[in-house]
Order: sequence, then C-alpha cells, then structure tokens
Amino acid sequence: MPGSTPPGTTPDRGWWRGAAIYQVYLRSFADGNGDGTGDLAGLRSRLQYLADLGVDAIWLNPWYPSPMADGGYDVADYRSIEPVFGTLAEAEKLIEEAHDLGIRTIVDVVPNHASDQHAWFREALAAGPGSEARERFWFRPGVGDGPPNGWQSIFGGPAWTQVPDGEWYLHLFAPEQPDFNWNNPAVREEFLDVLRFWFDRGVDGVRIDSAAVLVKDLDSVEESYTDHDGVHDIYREWRRVSDSYGGRILIGEVWLPDQDRFANYLRADELHTAFNFDFLSSAWEPAALRASIDLTLATHLSLDAPATWVLSNHDVARPVTRYGRAVTSWDNADRRDGMPSDLELGRRRARAAALLAMALPGSVYVYQGEELGLNEVEDIPEELIDDPMWERSGHTVRGRDGCRVPLPWSGDEPPFGYSTGTPWLPQPASWRDLTVEAQQEDPESMLRLYRSALRLRRRLLGDGTIAWLPLGDEVLAFVRDSGLICVVNLGSAPVDLPAHDSVLLASGPLADGRLPSDTAVWLTPLS
Ligand code: GLC
Repeated sequence: MPGSTPPGTTPDRGWWRGAAIYQVYLRSFADGNGDGTGDLAGLRSRLQYLADLGVDAIWLNPWYPSPMADGGYDVADYRSIEPVFGTLAEAEKLIEEAHDLGIRTIVDVVPNHASDQHAWFREALAAGPGSEARERFWFRPGVGDGPPNGWQSIFGGPAWTQVPDGEWYLHLFAPEQPDFNWNNPAVREEFLDVLRFWFDRGVDGVRIDSAAVLVKDLDSVEESYTDHDGVHDIYREWRRVSDSYGGRILIGEVWLPDQDRFANYLRADELHTAFNFDFLSSAWEPAALRASIDLTLATHLSLDAPATWVLSNHDVARPVTRYGRAVTSWDNADRRDGMPSDLELGRRRARAAALLAMALPGSVYVYQGEELGLNEVEDIPEELIDDPMWERSGHTVRGRDGCRVPLPWSGDEPPFGYSTGTPWLPQPASWRDLTVEAQQEDPESMLRLYRSALRLRRRLLGDGTIAWLPLGDEVLAFVRDSGLICVVNLGSAPVDLPAHDSVLLASGPLADGRLPSDTAVWLTPLS
C-alpha cells in the first residue's frame, strides 16, 4: 500500500517520513480540453501513470483562480479552482481518485501575498488610506516622491508600487502580488480557515510558499523580512489545525543558508518537513554532497524530523542541464542561464543523483519531467516568456519557464500527446526520444530507472539512518537500515564495489564489475 512504512521505520511515525512526493505543475502536466494549458481533467486521466511510477503523494502548485501574473502564485481566491484548470468539484474528485490509487494530495498555500485581484486587495484600494481594509496589507505613505523605503523585489525592481491616491503597497515579488500584513489577526484567522477548507476536502498536506518571509519590520532601513522569530507563532497555530485533522502535514518552502535557523521550522510543534535546498544547490562534487548530507542528517536527527531530498522544482534549472555545466551548483541569484551544458554527461549524473537522493533517509521529491530526464529549455522565444522575472529584470533574467515546459507523453512531434491544441510553452522537437511512450519500452530509460528505484525504495528505503562506508574521497557509499548499500562514484576513474551479494539497480552499466564515473548502484549485502 503506498505510503506504508518502510523497514527501519516505526509504523505509526507518519506516512510523510519516508514518502516519495511527485510535484505536479498543473499548467504543464496534461491538457484535457485542448486549450494548451494543463488542467485537472488531464491530471485525472493520467493518475494511473503516477500510481505506476510508484509515488506516495502528489503536490500541486497553486490551482486557485489567478490572473497568472506569477504562474498562479498570485491567488485571487484561496477557496476555489482556476477555471482554466477546472472546478472545485473536479478537484474533490481528483483527491478521491488519487486516494483510491493510494496517492495522497498536497496543495500549495501562498500566505505571503495574494493577487491584486483578490477581493481584499480590491476592497483595500477602494476603501482608501487609513481604512481597516488597508491594514490587511502593507500600505504606507511615500517618502518625498519615492517609496517608503528602498526594499527591492525578489523579482527585481522596487518592492513598492504606488496607487492613485498616493499611498504605496509592499510586494516582495511582482506588483500583482501584494504582501499580507501578518500582524493583522484577520489575516491569521483567514489562513487558518483556508487550511480547514482544504483539509475538510480531504487534502493530506499543505506546501507553504515562501514560508520564511511572512513577518516584516518595515521600520528597518535594511530589507528585513527573512526569518523573523514571529513567523514561528504562525506555524504553531497552523500545526494545531493540522494536528486536529490527524495525518495532515505542513511542508515549508524555507530557503535559509543557516541550518540552525532552518531547523527552527522543524520543531515538534511547527512544520513536519521543509525542502532541502542545500542538497539541491550542492555541486556535483563528492565533498560538497557529503557535507550537505551530513549537515542535513545532523540537523534533522537532533529534532527527530525527517529530512527531505530535492533535486529540482518549478523554480530551478533542470538537473540534467545543471549537472552538465562547468559549474554544477545552483544559485538563485545567479541562474547561469545559457551556460553551455553537456546534456549526455548531465543525464548520466542526474541518473546517479536520483539513486543517491532516493537512497537517503527521509522523504524524496520528484518534479514532473525529472523522471523523464528532461533538460532545461533555454531557447524559448522571448515573446513567449511568461515568467515575471523577465520583465522585472529589464529582460536580463529569462527566468523559470525553461523547467516548466509541458510534458512529452507520446508521438514523434509536439505537442507530444500533451494537448490537442498548442502548448502554452513550446516543446523542443528533441523531446521525441524522451516521451513517456518511448521511455516505457526502453529498459535503459530514465523513466524505467525511476520506476524501479521508487518500487525498491518503498520496500527497502525511506525513513531511518545511514552508516557511511569508507571507500575513498571520491566515492559516496553508505548502508541503510534494511542493509541496502548505495555507492556513487563521483571520481573520474572506475572503482571497485564493496562486498555485496547482488546488484539491485544501477544508474548505468558497470565496467567489468567496477563502478564507472558518475554512476550509482544499489547493492544487497552479503547474506
Ligand atoms: C515561491 C514559488 C515561486 C513563486 C514565489 C512567489 O518561491 O516557488 O514559484 O514565484 O514563491 O510566490
């Protein structure tokens, strides 16, 4: 049964501790009505694919009514579904059908900001300065002719926009995403109710967008919004709600370099898990990866919280492209757009990275298309770029569309079975070899590797611990609770495998029984 507990885990410790969670970027997953944008009908028609893949849960990016100024992270109504995606009734059916297949559903909640089309923001604009309605956001008079302070938006440009009556409002992201004022009890109540709304509809968890930036100190001249202590009170309240439902989890999008500060979010009465961006950002180098794994495990162990292992998502360049570049680490501030990439090398490393991530203790995330080995699409015509980063950066940062291109399902040419219409972002012709249809017939494909690994993982991996095996500086090797041994060769020459009984799975062919460079293997121990 999906979500059941792997060996090494105490059965009642929670399904999420070892879960494999598949991220569905709904806009680009599968289009059921031919308008070029993915939707709930498309997703429901492909649920069996996800069950066959062997995932325990899906996390959907925001599916709410939205003007799509930031791909749905500009939410106009937190209790409904964007009509382009479908209806609330369809969302309820999806949750039920997924449950029938043993798949849990996690929704994205965006508490830092709404859409400028949200009823509260429209009310605030109409009500004018000094009104209660404005208190739900951050409205301030300017200083001289300029904004209240010099804070910059994360997407580029000033973090303040002026409204016709002269006041300015704060938006850490695009101007269409006004920030909520979390000092206001009405905002706090509203989100507790939003959580209940979705838990009442059967969702099993919530991914919390931009989780660390809710609390601000506007009096500070320096930008002062990341990781204020006050944010923890909010999540304690949220945790009480999720606990009252039982088995429902809170997952934080917490980008913080300081692991001690990061760990605060995982205290027993706060979030259940948070994304491991340290691991995602790590270079494909043995010392960097080992350090990230050690730091992660030490941090989580001390809190008895499960680690998460993340290689990609809808905000970062695809691993195949990243790992094929001369610089393999990830940095949000320097996206390395257009840096040449050896995709063959990148794909070999991405296969090895997948076996590494899936062997480590905790839960693992798979971003749609990762299981197909898709590369970042770097040649989207400028006039089709949708990401607000492009405009906000004055056309210097192309942004995140390259990892959001619709999935190739079948056939030899775009739209590759994704839609009967024109996909909202163009798919590369080269993806003909990467369709689900092509890969499921090929035992050497990325898809088949993911399927095999997720199946084995469910039985033998997940939550628990590791013991490192000393196989030299360039090799990562460890034993898991079940006895499974994972070995990854990050050096340039083949290495001998440790003593083992059999090879369960390998990310690439062995060379006379030795493990080649950029290859990972799962072994059973000597009996
Ligand atoms: C998060 C999301 C990203 C979005 C931003 C603003 O980082 O993952 O896609 O643009 O928050 O909501």
